[in-house]
Amino acid sequence: MENKVAKSGSATLTVGDKSVELPVLKGSVGPDVVDIRKLYGETDVFTFDPGFTSTASCESQITFIDGDQGILLYRGYPIDQLAESCSFLEVAYLLLNGELPTASELTEFEHTITHHTMVHDQFNRFFQGFRRDAPPMAIMVAAVGALSAFYHDSTNIHDEKQREISAHRMIAKMPTIAAQAFKYSVGQPFVYPRNELSYAENFLRMCFSVPAEDYKPHPVAVKAMNHLLILQADHEQNASTSTVRQAGSSEANPFACIAAGIACLWGPLHGGANEAALNMLKEIGTVDKIPAFIEGVKNREQKLMGFGHRVYKSYDPRAKVMQKTAHEVLDAFGMHDDPLMKVAMELERIALEDQYFIDRKLYPNVDFYSGITMNALGFPADMFTVLFAVSRTVGWIAQWNEMISDPSQKISRPRQVYTGAPHRDVAPIEKRG
Ligand code: SDX
Repeated sequence: MENKVAKSGSATLTVGDKSVELPVLKGSVGPDVVDIRKLYGETDVFTFDPGFTSTASCESQITFIDGDQGILLYRGYPIDQLAESCSFLEVAYLLLNGELPTASELTEFEHTITHHTMVHDQFNRFFQGFRRDAPPMAIMVAAVGALSAFYHDSTNIHDEKQREISAHRMIAKMPTIAAQAFKYSVGQPFVYPRNELSYAENFLRMCFSVPAEDYKPHPVAVKAMNHLLILQADHEQNASTSTVRQAGSSEANPFACIAAGIACLWGPLHGGANEAALNMLKEIGTVDKIPAFIEGVKNREQKLMGFGHRVYKSYDPRAKVMQKTAHEVLDAFGMHDDPLMKVAMELERIALEDQYFIDRKLYPNVDFYSGITMNALGFPADMFTVLFAVSRTVGWIAQWNEMISDPSQKISRPRQVYTGAPHRDVAPIEKRG
């Protein structure tokens, strides 16, 4: 990665009797940044920003978000155009390499990924150690971390070729492992990938086919799976991507870094929100129960899951595409009267008119409609975040690669403001209390 951030001015910070002039840097689009790297050395003070609400952790050229305008670009391309015009592997190639593939580049990339989809046969026994009711996300965290035990021939992060092989292995094997976690949880036999199928078709077949009959995914389901994979593939420095970067900054192997990202994504405030949002819709049940639920949210008894976002202070552009996809799937599967969708649409209408949500700029995010779509495709709620992890693996790998090759990269080691006990001496136990 070549650093392209440019100086655009300076800012002066005065702390007590010390003043320091700090460079102001600019990217290609988006807010300028104040470069504070020399602040502590020249003033003996840190900045303080829990949750990083005003802090840029890195320079990146992969994904740009404008939260006020509701804009999401992957390498400059708008997310809605990519969802409508590309396959998931086209978008994966774009995120990894910076440009959309030519036809021959795509054919070669598809062949490479397709021929890495199987896992080591000993890996199939890995699942036997779990109870059948183990949450699939618990299995994913463990299984992906365990990949480094099988593929240590591609864990030298300073070797570009090994980084590329482990990237291809991760992208190719995530659907296989995710489908195995699902099959294990429902007590059905594992289904091997098929090389003649597309990435989306393969994943649906590994999840839903059984040995007793032939299986061919509905074309609307394949299109919806492509949308689910593309829309969730990357999202700049979100919590799980920052986790992957933080783990990677210590030069941990890529499989361990992705496992750390999966663990972070699991949380209901992040990737676990799709499961929480669907469970919320089920809890509300019918449209007439919405006013009481909204009152509970205003009284801070619960959150409106699938609403709100740290960056989007307008409609999440992914949610717009996902809402349309949800309707297409429900219509194709004869579920246009799905009560969950009725509750979701009415909840959105009310929330977008209610001053409480308007004042807090709470709009539906990608997780609000993705759960309805995955539910209609036949996935249980505890598989929703697993599917999110399959998609986000491409973004995590692209961001991890960018970090490793960034000449300005150092190990991530934040400081703190300490408010605990100052120095004191240990008293003998008989003199304590
Ligand atoms: C994802 O970062 C990413 O890019 C993430 C993601 C990605 O692709 O990687 O986009 C994926 O994680 C989407 C978000 C999924 N999470 C949810 O849907 C869970 C519900 N949403 C929230 O918990 C919340 O909105 C967050 C966590 C998403 C964002 O929280 P912030 O930015 O820290 O904002 P906040 O918690 O400080 O909230 C500000 C105000 C507060 O009210 P006041 O105390 O000021 O009165 O808004 C309220 C909050 O109480 N609020 C909500 C709310 N979200 C925020 N109130 C009710 N319901 C909500 N969902």
